[in-house]
Amino acid sequence: MLLSKNDARRVVLAAALLMSSVLARAAEPPLPDRDPHSYANPSQLKVTNVALQLSVDFDRKRLIGSSELQIAHVDPAARELLLDTRDLTITDVDSSTDGKAWKKAAYLLAARDAVLGSKLSIDLPLDAQRVRIRYHSASTASALQWLTPAQTSGKKLPFLFTQSQAIHARSWIPLQDTPLVRAPYQARIFAPKALRAVMSAQMHEQPAADGAWEFDMPQAIPSYLIALAVGDIAFKSTGARTGVYAEPAMLDRAAYEFAETEKTMDLAEALYGSYRWGRYDLLILPPSFPYGGMENPRLTFATPTVITGDRKLVSLITHELSHSWSGNLVTNATWSDFWLNEGFTTYLTNRLNEAQFGAAFADMERVLGLQDLRDAEEHAEAADRALLRATPARDPDEVFSSVPYEHGALFLVWLETQVGRPAFDRFLRGWFDDHAFKSASTAQFVAYLNEHLLAQNPGKVSTAQIDEWLQAPQLPAYAVLPKSDAFTQVEATRAAWLAGSLKTEALPTADWAVQQWQHFLDTMPASISLAQLQALDQQFGLSKSRNAILAGSWFRLAIAGGDRAQWPAAAGYVQSVGRMRLLEPVYRAWIAQPGGRAFAEKTFAKARDGYHPIAAETVARLFKKS
Ligand code: BES
Ligand code: ZN
Repeated sequence: MLLSKNDARRVVLAAALLMSSVLARAAEPPLPDRDPHSYANPSQLKVTNVALQLSVDFDRKRLIGSSELQIAHVDPAARELLLDTRDLTITDVDSSTDGKAWKKAAYLLAARDAVLGSKLSIDLPLDAQRVRIRYHSASTASALQWLTPAQTSGKKLPFLFTQSQAIHARSWIPLQDTPLVRAPYQARIFAPKALRAVMSAQMHEQPAADGAWEFDMPQAIPSYLIALAVGDIAFKSTGARTGVYAEPAMLDRAAYEFAETEKTMDLAEALYGSYRWGRYDLLILPPSFPYGGMENPRLTFATPTVITGDRKLVSLITHELSHSWSGNLVTNATWSDFWLNEGFTTYLTNRLNEAQFGAAFADMERVLGLQDLRDAEEHAEAADRALLRATPARDPDEVFSSVPYEHGALFLVWLETQVGRPAFDRFLRGWFDDHAFKSASTAQFVAYLNEHLLAQNPGKVSTAQIDEWLQAPQLPAYAVLPKSDAFTQVEATRAAWLAGSLKTEALPTADWAVQQWQHFLDTMPASISLAQLQALDQQFGLSKSRNAILAGSWFRLAIAGGDRAQWPAAAGYVQSVGRMRLLEPVYRAWIAQPGGRAFAEKTFAKARDGYHPIAAETVARLFKKS
């Protein structure tokens, strides 16, 4: 058959388009074969689905049941499936070609590595499609916190929650615990009758006839986003797609605080494309939750310390929501690329703050972020101060800092100023669309940046500048730093007060947002006197503040300023919250004081039982370091 001239032209055009898209793809380097934080061999055998069946045993503090993994034979000759585990007891391993007939598989659980846990090697027939592992977790599982009734707000029923990021999923599920691997998951969870189970998945209001709570996450997600909580959990809707889960005593306050989340979602969708996960609910955890928030898909886990009654700390939720694009949709390939999750998310959060609450508010948050970066630079070693990490095999919890967040966000801000906001917005949206439901590396981002932004804007950004942003242990001299007029005013007032020309009661704090208080306290000159500290607390009752952020900033300052009379109240404080970001500065301040280390150690001994294992480990590390 002869082609008409037009057809022929179309064929040539199609071929050219195909070529250019092949080239575009070729420009992005492949993902690495292995993740230094995982034993998995996904370039040979890859997990493509996870099905859990687990019973929650509060008496023995363990999850017991099975994990059924579907396997793709990427390398048809491969027969050794390598999984990650930590402190799991494996009782049986079977394989199957059809999911019906099972036969025993030989396996070997290696000795425990302090960072990675124990490699589980399973010998598989070449035609095996599924593997089923029967197991139970240890009472010390690093992802799990088992709360007694006394540690909850209701005081009557126990509570369990997981924290899988970065490499803790392996302490409650044997799997390929690397963000290189994505899989849908389903779960059936058996919990004590009075309790409800919730997960980062589609849920049902009632358990199935056999009592199991059933869950389905149909989209492919990395293992660190698998999350479970079990407790006296109630639900209240706040919008068409949003709602809050919390203990009944917290429910109304939480629903009020986060009533505007749906609005934030609309703003995010306008900038970065449709929200791909269906619902966006929040779970408010007890105060021991070790993070501010955790972006578990469909169900962000959040600290109750941002519930202040004035909706002034909701940007934490905006941050976790933003991960629905940067992190959950496009996921850091390994933990060396962590800034792709957190730097992008910090940038997105600031943009959404600006759209929702105005530039003055967004700028306060940006400056607080910069202050966090300055603090982090003080504590971190040079190698940990660059966006790209040189030392991959260390514990991600140990190298955690604000650097990937704030240095990463400032990189994107700088790119934005080089090419202009409209071009940068289009570029970011394209990055999310083109990598949706995929994992991505920093090298891929740089290739995509060159191809889709810098090629169109020649002469604006050099390769050397990109390298400096990614590899230098400090911000480039040409970084565009945020400024806040509201903070400049606070500084002027503070200077007058410190100099004695303004009385304590004349400080214009009545209309200060908590962010202004934070700035006032966190950047206080070291020259502040004991009498001035005491005057502050007397006037404003900071040590008794019910705002945990404010109280945290106060105790850090008071201890650093030598106000020993504040130690007992500070000890009460670190026993009432488990959020690491609030604990660490207070413990650090004690350690730097004469006699403070012993007091801090004594306090930690009392507080430790109330902390999540990750927080307990992080505080323990502070004592080892200094
Ligand atoms: N994904 C992080 C929390 C995380 C990071 C857990 C690394 C485990 C390992 C979450 O999105 C986060 O960044 N939380 C911050 C929020 C803040 C920056 C608004 C937190 O918890 O402080
Ligand atoms: Zn985050």
